[in-house]
Amino acid sequence: SRSYSITLLPGDGIGPEVVSVAKDVLVLAGSYEGIKFRFREMPVGGAALDGVGVPLPEETLEVAKVSDAVLLGAIGGYKWDGNEKHLKPETGLLQLRAGLGVFANLRPAAVLPQLIDSSTLKKEVAEGVDIMVVRELTGGIYFGNPRGFGHNEKGEDIGFNTEVYSVSEVDRIARVAFEVARKRQGKLCSVDKANVLEASMLWRRRVTALATEFPDVQLSHMYVDNAAMQLVRDPKQFDTIVTNNIFGDILSDEASMLTGSIGMLPSASVSESGPGLFEPIHGSAPDIAGQDKANPLATVLSAAMLLRYGLGEENAAKIIEKAVIETLDRGFRTGDIFSTGMVLVGCRKMGEEVLKSVESQKQVT
Ligand code: NAD
Ligand code: IPM
Ligand code: MN
Repeated sequence: SRSYSITLLPGDGIGPEVVSVAKDVLVLAGSYEGIKFRFREMPVGGAALDGVGVPLPEETLEVAKVSDAVLLGAIGGYKWDGNEKHLKPETGLLQLRAGLGVFANLRPAAVLPQLIDSSTLKKEVAEGVDIMVVRELTGGIYFGNPRGFGHNEKGEDIGFNTEVYSVSEVDRIARVAFEVARKRQGKLCSVDKANVLEASMLWRRRVTALATEFPDVQLSHMYVDNAAMQLVRDPKQFDTIVTNNIFGDILSDEASMLTGSIGMLPSASVSESGPGLFEPIHGSAPDIAGQDKANPLATVLSAAMLLRYGLGEENAAKIIEKAVIETLDRGFRTGDIFSTGMVLVGCRKMGEEVLKSVESQKQVT
């Protein structure tokens, strides 16, 4: 039977709650496909700061690098918000992404018919939405130099960052996006701010140049401000979106609300080789942490992406996705996706119900 090593990074806030659920679902769904997992749980974020004194201990990165895939909950919280930059939980997450070289972040936002009433948009606007945001994850303003604090000529304090992209960085993310679009509806919208930013002008130039390699993909360009508006005006016009690190961060949170809740959106971050990083797009939700209120489905669906994109285990991925749909069909809802007539449950109970739905798919042999 196949065996994989998985690094678990529960992190902070609701992270441990949702990772615990996703781990159980992963183990059970995997077992039906003859898959075994070896888990190693490592600290990251605030948990690592409290325990080891840094937000990404060397050992955590080393273990992650030699494993087959990494499943992360979330990091961050009030306790560490005032920390200096290098001692912020968020810095640990960025170091992890950079350390693994996972430059391509896939964030699917699909509106499930079961959750149509949880969307804040009108039914006819949200129905049938199926968007894949391909976010560049290891470049742009998050990592650009120069950056820091200083003084201007008037002696005033300033903070500054640099949005920078090289041709090779744009080319590799664009290629991933064209490939993704090719397997979907064949439509790719590149989102930038090329009317103002040089980094975006280069981005648009390279994406346009690469389009000749993908004649079967219909490429369009959109400015990010318009894209933010179009996403709520008529989200169905989008199939695949490719964009830079910071625009992708913002637009994927926006896209998550089309689907009903940020608690539903998974993500996969991959490189050309080496383990992928799989995490929900939401944060540590300190406002509901420790209360068993978190929606674990984004992390459960991230585990499905781990199986599909990280391990090539398509069948097990499908078992999980089907179980999530079935659990919703059976009426179970956490608070963030609750609507009248449904059964309100907490994080753990939702996990138990997903496990039941996985169980119902056990092959009778
Ligand atoms: P957040 O995503 O943690 O929370 C935003 C809102 O969504 C909150 O009201 C929260 O309760 C709700 N929410 C989020 N996930 C949910 C879930 N699974 N189920 C139900 N409700 C959910 O964003 P924030 O409040 O801006 O940030 C909180 C902390 O998380 C910060 O420290 C931030 O830096 C960090 N953060 C981490 C990640 C990550 O680890 N990848 C992502 C985003 C934010
Ligand atoms: C995300 C988060 C992170 C990001 C933060 C916590 C560094 O918002 O994963 O979407 O901006 O990428
Ligand atoms: Mn974000």
